[in-house]
Amino acid sequence: MAATPPPPPPRPPPELVAEIPFNVRRGQAIFKKYCSQCHTFKTEGRGTIRGPNLFGVVGSNSGSKVKEWGGSFQRLEEFRVIWSKETLLLWLRRPADVVPQKRQDRSCMTFRGMDHEEDCADLVAFLANSQGC
Ligand code: HEC
Repeated sequence: MAATPPPPPPRPPPELVAEIPFNVRRGQAIFKKYCSQCHTFKTEGRGTIRGPNLFGVVGSNSGSKVKEWGGSFQRLEEFRVIWSKETLLLWLRRPADVVPQKRQDRSCMTFRGMDHEEDCADLVAFLANSQGC
């Protein structure tokens, strides 16, 4: 007897899919994987014990999220970057080119950067999205 293949999974209604662009949803998954152990992205709340909430980071002055969070923001503030899609992309690719690194720094400012252009672009698309998650 030939086995009948399982029915295809139901598709979500198209209007739900259309609301959030694919790259933003992909960016959200990348955020969960690489950033969410330290950061949140929520309309309220200060973040996690390890890092600030990044909601609204696009358009903010460097250091301002860290300041709200109560961390040591001086280095980022002195650096005077405005986090835009462009500066975030540069920083994700080569963090040390945007914010000088300190020794023994445990924040994400020392991570070595993300390799995949597309991952960076989608992550930034997610950060620029105002919906929170
Ligand atoms: C190991 C924990 C950790 C991880 C993982 C992490 N971060 Fe951070 N992040 C921090 C901390 C701590 C700070 C505070 C900055 C400092 O002390 O220099 C920070 C600061 C930031 C800032 C600056 C906020 C401001 O006010 O200027 C941005 C932007 C940022 N992180 C984005 C990200 C992104 C995007 C990811 C994922 C690719 C990520 N971080 C992963 C801990 C982390």
